[in-house]
Amino acid sequence: MSPTDASAPSPPFSTIPVYVPPMGARPPFQRTGLTAMMRSSRDLLSNLPVDAFLWHTKTWDFFGRKIHLFNAPDLVREVFVARNAAFERKSPQQLTAFEPLIGDGLLVSDGETWRHRRAAVGPIVHGRNVPAFVPGMVEAALEWRARWQLFADAGRPVDVVHEMGCLTAEIISRSIFGRTLGIEHTGEIAAAFARYQEVADQLALAEMLRLPSWVPRPGRLGPAREARRIHRIIDAIIDDRIEARSGGDGDEGCLIDRLFDAKDETGRPLDREAIRNEAMVIFLAGHETTANTLSWAFFLLSQAGWARAALHAEVDEALAGGPPDNAGIAALTYTRAVVEETLRLYPPIPLIAREAVEDATVGDTHVAKGSLVLALPWLIHRHPHLWWRAPDFIPERFLPGETRPRKDQYLPFALGPRVCPGMTFGLVEATLCLAVLSHAFELEPLQGTRVEPVCRLTLKPGNSLPMMVRARRQEAGAAA
Ligand code: HEM
Repeated sequence: MSPTDASAPSPPFSTIPVYVPPMGARPPFQRTGLTAMMRSSRDLLSNLPVDAFLWHTKTWDFFGRKIHLFNAPDLVREVFVARNAAFERKSPQQLTAFEPLIGDGLLVSDGETWRHRRAAVGPIVHGRNVPAFVPGMVEAALEWRARWQLFADAGRPVDVVHEMGCLTAEIISRSIFGRTLGIEHTGEIAAAFARYQEVADQLALAEMLRLPSWVPRPGRLGPAREARRIHRIIDAIIDDRIEARSGGDGDEGCLIDRLFDAKDETGRPLDREAIRNEAMVIFLAGHETTANTLSWAFFLLSQAGWARAALHAEVDEALAGGPPDNAGIAALTYTRAVVEETLRLYPPIPLIAREAVEDATVGDTHVAKGSLVLALPWLIHRHPHLWWRAPDFIPERFLPGETRPRKDQYLPFALGPRVCPGMTFGLVEATLCLAVLSHAFELEPLQGTRVEPVCRLTLKPGNSLPMMVRARRQEAGAAA
């Protein structure tokens, strides 16, 4: 495919102005050894050289363990769909980073445990259940609108990364634990998860070097301590729910009650530890990803005036009669396209890794058991042969009527049997929050703010993103 015909939207869009969002400094060549490790521990993507977007396959040797990167749609499909059984195990980095917290939870389990859990948890967060959570999403977004009005009135900036982290934690917490308990505990849980992520080991050097389990791993003490704190909080909430249910106060709508009632494919209910682990998986997997999407979307809109105008025109019409509801989501096509284009340029999980559980062949590459296999949405989403004007922000490519990108070239939610079960939840949540807040406000980065992508466990516009919030004229009264 030539760079010009790659997923080009229909002709009216070819006049869209050029805006190339930040990609971060890329080294001219790839560093190896200690320098590479130091760079990667600060930012997992910072060691990818300028030509990496064009890679097809790449193999590295890490002290005898092979790491294979596949950066072509057919090869990505082979790994995650056709040969999923050989590559269903998560990487040592994911296991080390998350196991102390979520034990055998869905996000890190494989084999039989994963199949049982997926059968029990997948349907609970599936798209068909999302309408039940929409009122809670809108309610939280409206609370945030009122909160931002205070910043707008005072002429003070908001830290969008922090704000969106709190808003999405609020939404997922209310969805999991029910409105009352969720609201009561969100701050405590979100702060505890943030502390955990700060100390989590995302390099897993000892496992990569296959050191025996008796070799001390001092870096694990911090995560274990933080994990115990989180377990105590969640256990107390579960106790409260058990007590409420025994008093006849079941809350069909909340995810934790659905976990109590869930059965795996053999008809067995989840035990108490499994319920705790899966509640934490949903909290962990279901808020920072959406928060990052929203933070990037506000930044991108602040830089692309024509896209901001199109979004404002849409939300002004769609929300004229009041906040959106389930039926109103269909009218938010441009807002949703902004969310999807944001996920293309800044996929919250920019690197998807697996360990081979058996020998396999992918394309022409022999992959030995124990090797790591990678697909990087970060690279494939910006591959110049797969996307028209790949580095540019063009929400229009995701409007209804345009050709949808293939699932193996656009994978913000992964693909295959382990595809994100919360995909619709996340897309609807991001679209609604963006619509409600953009209806009321216009955001602009605080002067002098430098925005660059940084990937630790997820891809963020740095640790903070201070932006000025200005009430839009027609909304100034309504937001008060
Ligand atoms: C924009 C928002 C989101 C993005 C970009 C996203 C992305 C992803 C990706 C890429 C994976 C696969 C990770 C891997 O295989 O290593 C995943 C897994 C998962 N996600 Fe999401 N996610 C989002 C929102 C959500 C939400 C809202 C929920 C729950 C309500 C959720 C629940 C899960 C779960 C449970 C898994 C594990 C699935 C399994 O291993 O079988 N996600 N997500």
